[in-house]
Amino acid sequence: MVEETGIETTGLYHKYEVGEAQQVIALAGVDIKVSRGEFLVIIGPNGSGKSTLAKHFNALLLPDQGDVVVFGMNTKDPAHTWEIRKNAGMVFQNPDNQIVATVVEEDVAFGPENLGVKPAEIRQRVEKCLGFVGMLSYRRHAPHLLSGGQKQRVAIAGVLAMEPMCVILDEPTAMLDPRGRVEVMNAVRQINKEHGLTVIHITHYMDEALFADRVLVMDRGKVIMEGPPREVFQKRDELLSLGLDVPQLGKLSAMLAAAGVNVRPDALSVDELVDELCRLKSGT
Ligand SMILES: Nc1ncnc2c1ncn2[C@@H]1O[C@H](COP(=O)(O)OP(=O)(O)OP(=O)(O)O)[C@@H](O)[C@H]1O
Ligand SMILES: [Mg+2]
Repeated sequence: MVEETGIETTGLYHKYEVGEAQQVIALAGVDIKVSRGEFLVIIGPNGSGKSTLAKHFNALLLPDQGDVVVFGMNTKDPAHTWEIRKNAGMVFQNPDNQIVATVVEEDVAFGPENLGVKPAEIRQRVEKCLGFVGMLSYRRHAPHLLSGGQKQRVAIAGVLAMEPMCVILDEPTAMLDPRGRVEVMNAVRQINKEHGLTVIHITHYMDEALFADRVLVMDRGKVIMEGPPREVFQKRDELLSLGLDVPQLGKLSAMLAAAGVNVRPDALSVDELVDELCRLKSGT
């Protein structure tokens, strides 16, 4: 059952000890299920517990209370730690902190080398995974000379080369320019849709949440909303009160509808709004 579920947390509670007698409750009872093959986006204000939750998915942190079960393995059992880390690959915000080698292909080979994969297979994996993220032609380049978006795609290829079941990305686009963000999001969508990997993507960019099967909204250590993007972004006032926003196109369609233009107020993407405006123009 749990294996089917992919990743499941029950009653997950996590606190950090700060100083002598102070505690920060970062997760205050989180119960979620992530299905295999799902594209889950997690949003929430600063300090709401997103990164703390992400670090529980690959046993970088362990629960103070409750359980995290990753593809059938409880993170509390040290016998599973290695297998969990291999199957739940993490990509972080800063691309520079994730590069370990001086040549792109060596960087991608690092993970599988550590897993003891044979050299011939490593070569195949490196080629395949650099191809997945559109970076194969940079295989012999020096990573530190690449753009931020390119570096992040190399980091993603490095995770994919370990052949995980799930990729967890904690604000992978936060330090990128708009072009880099698009490049990385295209790569992330591709590994989910075409290669069937479970993707958990944490972001502050609401537009990135549009690609999700499901969006979780966190606040003060709890999941306070969840659902398909359209459903979640309907609750604009609640999101605004958390200091979050709705996707830009969502705002525009709501404004047009409020101004009396006959378009659906919940169009969220460029394509949807274009369809609405074309319908209006053709008078149907
Ligand atoms: N290592 C730590 N030691 C002490 N407190 C921490 C530590 N890491 C996080 N916290 C605190 O735990 C809470 C949750 O932090 P977390 O980093 O998980 O939030 P987040 O949603 O990822 O925030 P952001 O959007 O800023 O990345 C915050 O109050 C934060 O200050
Ligand atoms: Mg964070």
